Amino acid sequence: MRNQVSVIYRNVFLYRFAMNLLYTGGYKTRFYKVIKLIKEIKPADILELCFGDIIIAEFCNENNIKWTGFDLNEHFIFKAKCKKFNVKMVDLSAVSSFQKSEICLMIGSLYHFHDEINSLLSKMLSSSKTIIISEPIKNLSDRKNIIGLIARKSANAGKGEVPFRYNEVTFLKMLNEESRKLSFQYKIIDYYKKDIIIAIEKNGKN
Ligand SMILES: C[S@@+](CC[C@H](N)C(=O)[O-])C[C@H]1O[C@@H](n2cnc3c(N)ncnc32)[C@H](O)[C@@H]1O
Repeated sequence: MRNQVSVIYRNVFLYRFAMNLLYTGGYKTRFYKVIKLIKEIKPADILELCFGDIIIAEFCNENNIKWTGFDLNEHFIFKAKCKKFNVKMVDLSAVSSFQKSEICLMIGSLYHFHDEINSLLSKMLSSSKTIIISEPIKNLSDRKNIIGLIARKSANAGKGEVPFRYNEVTFLKMLNEESRKLSFQYKIIDYYKKDIIIAIEKNGKN
């Protein structure tokens, strides 16, 4: 039987409201931090994995950057399709490769793949020269208030609850291990609220 998708994953407006609570009003600024980096790189195209919302897509549209979004969630896919964005319903775990793009981007979603992180990063590296990741590294789910409840109940994309979250130590440990295995280097670009923003580049020639 298919797992019950989290309530906030069923409606993008509810999703934005919940995320604004988790980011204490800074939900959109979190995307603007990534947009600042995209502006510096000036790519021709971007593949956004687990896009959820269309804030990056709208920026790309306004700036002549070709944007493609992959997500598993039919509600997010539907909403983006209604706005004529180029999206595909893809289970990232079920495919062996991603399409080529100048930047492969993932925001707030890496924890969904913590038990297949090597495979996911490997697919991202094969698809793109530059990877941008913005990932929460402060866990709010053990709080005993509304924020904790939202954090606990907000991570079922249809494949079951995902209790795992990175903290800064486990996130950097994972990156250091994977950078050796997959031969890449990474740079910490910024911190915003509970997120860390990093850029990954492959070592050597592409
Ligand atoms: C916490 S949301 C983040 C959404 C958005 N990037 C943001 O930062 O607000 C996680 C997203 O990952 C998607 N997702 C989770 N597992 C996935 C999978 N295996 N394949 C594709 N998308 C997945 C969910 O549908 C959801 O849109």
